[in-house]
Amino acid sequence: MLDTIQELKEKHNAVILAHYYQEPEIQDMADFVGDSLELSRKAAGTDADVILFCGVHFMAETAKIVNPEKTVIIPDMDAGCSLADSAPAKPFKKWVDAHPDHVVVSYINCSAEVKGLSDIICTSANAKKVVESIPKDKKILFAPDRFLGKYVMKETGRDMVLWKGSCQVHEIFSEKALIKLKVEYPEAKVLAHPECDENILVHSDFIGSTSALINYVNNSKDKQHIIGTEPGVIHQMQKHNPEKQFFALPNQEGCACNECPHMRLNTMEKIVDTLRNLKNEITLDEDIRVRALKPLNRMLEIV
Ligand code: 13P
Ligand code: SF4
Repeated sequence: MLDTIQELKEKHNAVILAHYYQEPEIQDMADFVGDSLELSRKAAGTDADVILFCGVHFMAETAKIVNPEKTVIIPDMDAGCSLADSAPAKPFKKWVDAHPDHVVVSYINCSAEVKGLSDIICTSANAKKVVESIPKDKKILFAPDRFLGKYVMKETGRDMVLWKGSCQVHEIFSEKALIKLKVEYPEAKVLAHPECDENILVHSDFIGSTSALINYVNNSKDKQHIIGTEPGVIHQMQKHNPEKQFFALPNQEGCACNECPHMRLNTMEKIVDTLRNLKNEITLDEDIRVRALKPLNRMLEIV
C-alpha cells in the first residue's frame, strides 16, 4: 500500500499532512506530522499541487483558505469536530454583534465562516501569545472552546467573554481515574492538552499543544507519563522514547481509549482511494475564504 501511495503522490504532485491524532500507520506514512499550528504553516508553505490532509474538516479547510489555487482533499468528508460544530455561524454572528466593542479571538477549531467573523485566530500552541498581543484596554470575545478560554484567562490575567463550546474527547477525561493513576505511579508526570477541563489541568505538570507535549517528553528525563489528550500522540512519544512509559488517561466511562471519533474515520484504504480519484475536495465560497484568510494571516504573522 505504501508503494501505491508513493506512486499516486508522484503522479499528482501531492503532499500528505497528518495530525498527531491519526492512526500510527497514517502518521508514519505522512510527509509531515504536526499540531494544528505546524500543519497550517506547512500548508501555507508547500509547493505541491495537491494537499491530502489527514485530519478533520476544519484543518483541511484551513489549508484551502491559504491555498485557493491548490486541490485540498480529505480521506473522509465526515471527519468533523465537535468543537467546531459547537459554534454554528448564525448564532456566532449574533453573539459577535451583541459585543461590538470586543476583539474576537477564535480557536482554529471552527468553520471558515466563523473564522471570517473573527479578528484573529489562535491554536492551542499560541493562544496565550495571541491574547497577549491584544492591547490591555481592549475587551475580548474568545470562542469556541470554553476550557481553553478559561485556561488562557488564568495564564494571561485577561478577562474574556467565552463561547460555551467544548471538545467531546477532552471534556470527558476522568479526574478520579487521574488521581488513581497518580497514586499508582507517583513518579509519573501528568501532561495535558488545554482543551481539558480545569479539574484535569490542576493536576497537570505540563500543559500544551500536542507538539508541545511530545517535545516535553523528548526533552525531559522523566520516565513515566500520564497523557491527558487523544492517545494518538503516544505513538510519537513511544517511537522516540522506547524506554519511557506512557499511560493514556481514562475517560469517565473508564476506558483508556479516548480516541477522537472524527479523526479516526480516516484510514489507509480511504487515503489511497481519495488520492487515486482526487475525491473529497474541499471547496469554499471565495467571499468566505477571503474573509477567513485575514484573521488567519494575522495569527501567522504575529506568532
Ligand atoms: P493541537 O493544537 O494540539 O493540534 O490541537 C488540535 C486539536 O484538535 C485538539 O483536540
Ligand atoms: Fe475536535 Fe476534539 Fe477531535 Fe480535536 S479531539 S478534532 S477538538 S473533536
